[in-house]
Amino acid sequence: MSEASENTVPLLEFSDVHAHYGPVEALKSVNVHIHKGEIVSLIGANGAGKTTLLSSIFGAPRASAGRILHKGEDISRLPTNRISRRGIALVPEGRQIYQDMTVEENMMMGTTAIGMEHFAEDRTAMFELFPRLKERRSQTAGTMSGGEQQMLAIARAMMARPELILFDEPSLGLAPLVVKRVFEVLREIAAMGKTIFLVEQNANHALKLSQRAYVMVNGRIHLSGESAALLDNEEVRKAYLGLH
Ligand SMILES: Nc1ncnc2c1ncn2[C@@H]1O[C@H](COP(=O)(O)OP(=O)(O)OP(=O)(O)O)[C@@H](O)[C@H]1O
Ligand SMILES: [Mg+2]
Repeated sequence: MSEASENTVPLLEFSDVHAHYGPVEALKSVNVHIHKGEIVSLIGANGAGKTTLLSSIFGAPRASAGRILHKGEDISRLPTNRISRRGIALVPEGRQIYQDMTVEENMMMGTTAIGMEHFAEDRTAMFELFPRLKERRSQTAGTMSGGEQQMLAIARAMMARPELILFDEPSLGLAPLVVKRVFEVLREIAAMGKTIFLVEQNANHALKLSQRAYVMVNGRIHLSGESAALLDNEEVRKAYLGLH
């Protein structure tokens, strides 16, 4: 992290955040921060609480204690639509595209937070980033391949012109070549000036892409630091990279 970002208010910050599903505490005093322009990753095993952390930004579940700050303002009690309008978009786990709608209609749904004013221009930009989506613009989204659906989920999030994009396991269930393409796309999106918070089980790719990373275990942040250092960390290598 640069000295400049050390001294500025984080774009997003979790401060001692707890969250519950009924009696189950899924987040336990989580502290995470993301500065503008960074790519930060969050890795952890199944059930660690990664999706819960992303969902808590939109209030599902709401933080039961602690604060979620966007540009220094507590957003943990705001309605979901107000949070989207602050320039935060989610590419959800499992894509969650509208299966019965066409590619273009899905992209239109992405503009909900900002309106249709920039639709044509932004659609052109997304068709340049994802030529396959241009070819398939009138196709029903549910009939596309997993990789194509992932690209559509990313394009839909981008249509909201977000400053910060949250990705929840974008490489899940995709073939190695498609995974490689997904990570290239993330790099291109970062180069467009977007800030990225990336949740991944593919720790190797995630740590190579990001500048900093957090490791979550059982609802807590267990380790954090520069991604390069975590790639060399013996515990991370054994538990998340399958190396010894
Ligand atoms: N809607 C829910 N109701 C009750 N418990 C839930 C709910 N969603 C998640 N949990 C529980 O909260 C914990 C954290 O789940 P979460 O989905 O955040 O994990 P994750 O790190 O995203 O896992 P994965 O890598 O499998 O996606 C798990 O024990 C899970 O069973
Ligand atoms: Mg998850």
